[in-house]
Amino acid sequence: MPRVFVDGLTVDVPEGARLSAALGLPPVACRDLSGAPRGPLCGMGQCFECRVTVGGREVLACLTPATEGLEVRRG
Ligand code: FES
Repeated sequence: MPRVFVDGLTVDVPEGARLSAALGLPPVACRDLSGAPRGPLCGMGQCFECRVTVGGREVLACLTPATEGLEVRRG
């Protein structure tokens, strides 16, 4: 079970899951353009509601595999 870090919070994600799985687990959640909490919506790269930053790059959490040790920033 990969362990990722979302804004410093540790989240264990099921093997083979995308980062959006981590963002759907409390206490972390996505943020929309205004910074308000928002969950992944479409799950297939269309709504852009799951944008996060990994390694200085903005990615879509629903399309990004959750691999061990990833450090994710919301907003
Ligand atoms: S959940 Fe819609 S783009 Fe990721």
